[in-house]
Amino acid sequence: MAVDFAGMYREQCRRSGYGQKSSRHWDQRAASRDKRAPDGIYTEACLSRMDFTGVQTVLDIGCGTGNLAIPLARRVRHVHALDFSPEMLAHLQAHRRQAGIKNLTVHQLSWADSWRGVPRVDLALCSRALGVTDLRAALTKMTRHARRRCYAITHVGGSFLGPDILARLGRSIVPRPDYIYAVNILYQMGLRATVDFLQTTARMPYATPEAFLDSVRWRIGDLQPREITRLKQMYRQLPVQADGQRVYQHHFTWAMLGWETTPA
Ligand SMILES: C[S@@+](CC[C@H](N)C(=O)[O-])C[C@H]1O[C@@H](n2cnc3c(N)ncnc32)[C@H](O)[C@@H]1O
Repeated sequence: MAVDFAGMYREQCRRSGYGQKSSRHWDQRAASRDKRAPDGIYTEACLSRMDFTGVQTVLDIGCGTGNLAIPLARRVRHVHALDFSPEMLAHLQAHRRQAGIKNLTVHQLSWADSWRGVPRVDLALCSRALGVTDLRAALTKMTRHARRRCYAITHVGGSFLGPDILARLGRSIVPRPDYIYAVNILYQMGLRATVDFLQTTARMPYATPEAFLDSVRWRIGDLQPREITRLKQMYRQLPVQADGQRVYQHHFTWAMLGWETTPA
């Protein structure tokens, strides 16, 4: 009997503290994410691993502020950048204009919307944006939209919090389902994905303890008063950068899955 990986993924999403994020949630993060961008090392690591053979058009799903969409537009004939957050797309449009890029079309849509107006492309890509509970439907949708191949970059391990923060909190969290579900679901769909691992270090500056607490809440939900006290203490011990903000550094591993959409 086939293991129901899609069902297990859904159940694990439901139990995890991360929760479903709406476009309004992401709107609120657009400015702070944009300040961190361009995420040069991550972007370069992804692009250097992609096979562009036969690729003239790309769909970037959950494109955010354009970390990948902008450099991709310099490389291929046309990029379609899709995201459900109007704020993220506003930042992307500003970068596009600044860079004088004309071969990029923006689509304000979610994974769940109809993509009828989005043309099929040679390569479909989703970087750090598989924020769905129906993973099988999302993988099917992106595969159908790509004539040649797909890439999905998603997290390894179930927490977006560093082990030092988890240790301070002193609680165990229900992990998010990670990349291995996508590998297994693709296998069940008859698609053999390659997996490559990218090591990154995120440097996240916070101007206030509240901003630091909010970033932890985004990942695990509400905090207990005792946890707030511990995290404020941790914030005061973080190194200070020239502009006075305190910096939290976190090593992170991403899995980059690639699959051909047409059999060899
Ligand atoms: C972590 S950012 C990644 C941005 C970019 N792909 C990168 O790797 O730098 C996640 C992006 O996915 C978008 N997103 C999350 N859930 C989505 C959904 N259900 N439909 C469309 N976009 C979504 C968010 O608005 C956000 O811009």
